[in-house]
Amino acid sequence: MDKKFKRTLVTSALPYANGPVHIGHLAGVYVPADIYVRYLRMRGEDVLYVCGSDEHGVPITIKARQQGCTPQDIVDKYHKIIKDSFSGLGINFDIYGRTSSKVHEKNASEFFRKLYDEGKFITRESEQYYDPEAKTFLADRYIVGTCPKCGAEGAYGDQCEKCGSTLSPEELINPKSKLSGAEPVKKKTSHWYLPLDQYEKWLSVWILEDHKEWRSNVYGQCKSWIDGGLQPRAVSRDLDWGVPVPVEGAEGKVLYVWFDAPIGYISNTQELLPESWDKWWKSGDTKLVHFIGKDNIVFHCIVFPSMLKAYGDGYILPDNVPANEFLNLEGDKISTSRNWAVWAHEFLTEFPGKQDVMRYVLTANAPETKDNDFSWKDFQARNNSELVAIFGNFVNRAVVLTHKYFGGKVPACGNLLDIDRETLAEIPALRASLERNIEGYHFREALKDAMSIARVGNKYISDTEPWKVAKTDLEHTGTILNVCLQICADLAIAFEPFTPFAAEKLRNMLGVGINAGVDHRKGEQETVNTYRPGEGAALHTVSSADCLPSCGVCLDWSRLGDTDLLPAGHQLNQPELLFAKIEDEAINAQLARLDAIRAEREAAAKAEAAKVVAPQKAECTFEDFEKMDIRTATVLEAERVPKTDKLLKLTIDTGIDKRTIVSGIAEFYSPEDMVGKQICILANLAPRKIRGIESKGMILMARQGDGKMRFITPAEVLLNGAEIG
Ligand code: 2FM
Ligand code: ZN
Repeated sequence: MDKKFKRTLVTSALPYANGPVHIGHLAGVYVPADIYVRYLRMRGEDVLYVCGSDEHGVPITIKARQQGCTPQDIVDKYHKIIKDSFSGLGINFDIYGRTSSKVHEKNASEFFRKLYDEGKFITRESEQYYDPEAKTFLADRYIVGTCPKCGAEGAYGDQCEKCGSTLSPEELINPKSKLSGAEPVKKKTSHWYLPLDQYEKWLSVWILEDHKEWRSNVYGQCKSWIDGGLQPRAVSRDLDWGVPVPVEGAEGKVLYVWFDAPIGYISNTQELLPESWDKWWKSGDTKLVHFIGKDNIVFHCIVFPSMLKAYGDGYILPDNVPANEFLNLEGDKISTSRNWAVWAHEFLTEFPGKQDVMRYVLTANAPETKDNDFSWKDFQARNNSELVAIFGNFVNRAVVLTHKYFGGKVPACGNLLDIDRETLAEIPALRASLERNIEGYHFREALKDAMSIARVGNKYISDTEPWKVAKTDLEHTGTILNVCLQICADLAIAFEPFTPFAAEKLRNMLGVGINAGVDHRKGEQETVNTYRPGEGAALHTVSSADCLPSCGVCLDWSRLGDTDLLPAGHQLNQPELLFAKIEDEAINAQLARLDAIRAEREAAAKAEAAKVVAPQKAECTFEDFEKMDIRTATVLEAERVPKTDKLLKLTIDTGIDKRTIVSGIAEFYSPEDMVGKQICILANLAPRKIRGIESKGMILMARQGDGKMRFITPAEVLLNGAEIG
């Protein structure tokens, strides 16, 4: 760690407790932050990892209304689902708090009050939409109407979900309140604003000059906000769910969710460490890192820092904000409302024991510099051909052969040949690269480095073929397996941040413990986590003096790459497979679920399109109409036009003659459907050649907005050649 820092405070964005978390959240925020924290803990750094549910905001009130319950019911439900999902995936927060807690209400309230008392806010009166029947101001989401951009009904006052346009309530056509259905009216209201314009110069120096090392997506967004000129931002809302504005005369007003949520990081720290929280937030030697998604950049880089700057009192600012771009699913944007997601809690039930596979795949595809895609086929391929075939296969071969030839005891390392020495020498270089990458927030690359250790091991055991050497030279077989087992121990260290469940399984197999560092989950008292072999997944919180497991082998990050991690004679446990193959069946079930959602969505879109009625064409005169000779006719024969999908060749009796018409209706009717049907035709349309066939006339068809077509037939059968008009 940078010398100027003594400890690291890591936060990851507080997820809204109005729905479960999905793989987009995991890949963007929680998995990378967890990797970073696990790594720092193993390196012996003092690190605190803070998160919690964001339990205020309008979407929560809307969900409560939809489900006929209270907002508190909603946040209680999702807080639990989200918390359990994180813990199921091994995301090891020191605290996972909630912004509906008493500690937070008091803290956020006092934060606002100090800024208010010190005159750091300005007040502004504005006109906002108001529901005259429900007698309440309406948040943008509570106003619905017709989208001015695409004409869809039910667009929200801030966004049209159909076409994705960002809207303001003023733009909606025919706006209605979601509460009462009444037409909203404009009414004056006053709010407190944080005058961001006053912090613009300071932000410009702090970010644009002093933090040029931030990721280019983060730096770029900040630059464009600052260059565009910052405006005062309202920090209160007319709403009945949130932290009440602690000022007289502010009845019916609460703190804006984006004012209270980031303060939640501080509140949650206070809740965990009531006596020492300020060490984490107010010491210049604490490094603060916010892990977020790209949609949160402005709040974490501009708004929250300005709030802290305004507050003063020694609050530190983030040293870095490694924001990720978005993850797509099977080529489509992840969307909660369209149920286009892989939900963490569902994944945990449908793929028990596969947490590490998900962590691995999400890290390997992390959207660090651009949006990236998750696909189930890739999930399967990365498991089967990387985790199983390289990492798992190497470990399995090393442990199984040690049992076969040496009774499961680590054989002695005898004379090293060039290949042995060169192989061992690769590990320190990979370790250095891995460290550089994690510390620089390049988690994809860091994972590649860890995987390269497994590749080195796998190649080495294939090249040296200890099973063949054993036929002639058991001593050298021992040396080869000793090298392999040292690499297995390296893997048990290097993969702990990325795939902690597999790393633990591996340590159990090797019969070793690990120093996983200090955490603060138990509150003021710091504890060292030592995972001991053979004792399941239990986390042992013991004092540091007592952390060595009974077998006497305790792995430690500082020894990654050492060639004597496992001493000769050390007894291994029985081999077990680190990773199991994922069969097509499991993947196909997921793809089928997504296909069904896609099909449902397409059907709904088609049904919507079907409703669209084409606008009336330009006026024509009676004489124009009279030129058209429209008549009844009967189809005598019908056949497909070869090598086309759309064309039918019809022989028809027009009452005047028998003729051929080529018509583009094969998509809707088979030849058998048409034979014998009475239809209407435009008889005097000039003949033209279609696919070499002369077509004389045109069949009259009715076409819907979705393209569906039906031929027109008289209400009862008439003579052929009857004139229509
Ligand atoms: O975008 C979101 O999901 C927000 N709930 C993140 C809040 S982060 C923090 F500031 F609390
Ligand atoms: Zn629209």
